[in-house]
Amino acid sequence: MTRIRPVEKEDREAVRALIEGTNAFKPFEVDVAMELVDAALASPDQEEYHPFVLVEEDGTVGAYACFGKNPMTKATYDLYWIATRTDRMGKGYGRAMVTFVSEQVRLRGGKLLVIETSSQESYGTTRRFYDRIGATLAASLPDYYDEGDDKLIYLLPVR
Ligand SMILES: CC(C)(COP(=O)(O)OP(=O)(O)OC[C@H]1O[C@@H](n2cnc3c(N)ncnc32)[C@H](O)[C@@H]1OP(=O)(O)O)[C@@H](O)C(=O)NCCC(=O)NCCS
Repeated sequence: MTRIRPVEKEDREAVRALIEGTNAFKPFEVDVAMELVDAALASPDQEEYHPFVLVEEDGTVGAYACFGKNPMTKATYDLYWIATRTDRMGKGYGRAMVTFVSEQVRLRGGKLLVIETSSQESYGTTRRFYDRIGATLAASLPDYYDEGDDKLIYLLPVR
């Protein structure tokens, strides 16, 4: 049995290790991810970032996701981060997180979830994952992250 709950202070290092362990992110990106976790932990009432973990029965953190409303929009949310612990990939944890986030967004009145990723080959797995969960590639911004490294923007309608 697994459950999904808000990140707690005690999860901090496990979340960092999980994100680092995927080898999908550069060190500064891991730092940015942790800034969102810390911002949420420091101000429990803030509404900008909503970091959640999927935990297994023994407390092992198996997946992480963070989403938040885009303040410039009426009902659009961004999925800022999603990652599954490397040795738990392929077990449905990522899909469970997206289903959970979609439900959270729906409960908050959101209509659309936006997911951004890089066109680089290291993100190929992620792009297949987004296809499988029903997200649609809506735009690509050439050379956004770096020369030859485009930003891909996926949309997932929330029902
Ligand atoms: C992307 C990621 C979150 C997927 O998590 P996961 O827990 O392994 O995914 P799931 O087991 O829930 O898989 C969901 C679907 O995606 C598919 N999928 C996942 N990884 C895949 C792969 N490498 N190749 C093809 N399909 C894949 C699964 O087959 C499954 O399809 P199905 O349910 O229709 O059978 C995980 O690979 C990850 O953490 N990657 C590194 C971090 C990252 O890139 N995050 C996104 C940028 S913020």
